[in-house]
Amino acid sequence: MEEPNVGELKPPERVLLGPGPSNVHPRVLGAMNTSIVGHLDPYFVDIMDEVQDLLRYVFRTDNEWTLPVSGTGSASMEAGISNLVEPGDTVLVPSNGYFGARMESMAQRAGGETVRVDAPWGEPLDAVDVQEAFNEHQPDIFGFVQAETSTGTLQPDVSELVDIAHSHDALTIVDTVTSLGGVELHVDDWGIDVSYSAAQKCISCPPGASPLTLNDDAMDKILSRETEPRCWYLDLAELEDYWGDNRSYHHTAPVTNIFGLREALRIVAEEGIEERWNRHLRVSGALKSGIEAMGLEMNSRDDAWLPTLNAVRVPDGVDDDTILRRLVEEYNIEISAGLGDLEGEILRIGCMGHSARAQNVLYLVDALGEILDDEGVDVSPGDAVAATSDAL
Ligand SMILES: Cc1ncc(COP(=O)(O)O)c(C=O)c1O
Repeated sequence: MEEPNVGELKPPERVLLGPGPSNVHPRVLGAMNTSIVGHLDPYFVDIMDEVQDLLRYVFRTDNEWTLPVSGTGSASMEAGISNLVEPGDTVLVPSNGYFGARMESMAQRAGGETVRVDAPWGEPLDAVDVQEAFNEHQPDIFGFVQAETSTGTLQPDVSELVDIAHSHDALTIVDTVTSLGGVELHVDDWGIDVSYSAAQKCISCPPGASPLTLNDDAMDKILSRETEPRCWYLDLAELEDYWGDNRSYHHTAPVTNIFGLREALRIVAEEGIEERWNRHLRVSGALKSGIEAMGLEMNSRDDAWLPTLNAVRVPDGVDDDTILRRLVEEYNIEISAGLGDLEGEILRIGCMGHSARAQNVLYLVDALGEILDDEGVDVSPGDAVAATSDAL
């Protein structure tokens, strides 16, 4: 066998305005470029407490059961769903996006019977339809997505949907992967039972340790299950030994990721969670103004516009691949294409965490205008930059 000949690692410095990861603050990279300690080292045990407190701060919760799950957002998603859903439970899930479909698949693998509440891709669920689905199916659990990354759609009435579920004695699981730290969210005040998220979106940390929070009602159901969850690694009753009071070995935590997450969350706390939500509204609002002034159309209605992920209709006369390729090759900017029902129809422009800055959105609006103009699309690049800059 030949000796491998692999060169030095030199990743390009991209402006990350896609659906995640977002750019990482140098302080976070610095926190990850430190010595490693053991996952049961007294130093690390204190760090665990601090990370749990910081996570409670961003989730706006006092939930004791608040922890970073080892793995990406799908791991904390699977931890939430596969622990809460018992074989035979009826689980109501949405059909209006890619990540709602992933919830459905996970709930089925956990042994749940799934039923759907429908809305077209690119529209939020309607509370009336949710109420009807509850009347018809009487689900035990209702899972839905606050910020559907595949369509750039915000579910604007989370607390109302949670109230519907609670009035039918059902528990709720809310996906906050593309909202935590970027869009207003109050886990306790809105009564959310379980919420999972990821580090690489509005928290701006490399992926690998993913926020999860569960209230007492959810934990009571989990701790009184008749059958063990099918996964061992994400079994929350087992994980309690490590993240609960005992702090004893369950698996080797990704120490460096937790260091990074701690620093990223410290930055969130320094900024202040409300100021951070406002910054996303302000900076992404300016991006949206520029896009619209250029003559392009947003995919979501204004009351379901998701500031952390702007879905923009691909204009006639150009294909999405060309736009994406030219943005990377000529401007070093990453954005993304549509998925599923919206493949080829939308561009997905993220505005999250450390990427959500004035200089980035001005640069993107300018670059996008130049490319579209050059491709022969009837746009007004000058008006777009002026509108973005005025809004900032
Ligand atoms: C809404 C939503 N849920 C779940 C996930 C899964 O997260 P991950 O890719 O970190 O596993 C994503 C990822 O983009 C997402 O956007």
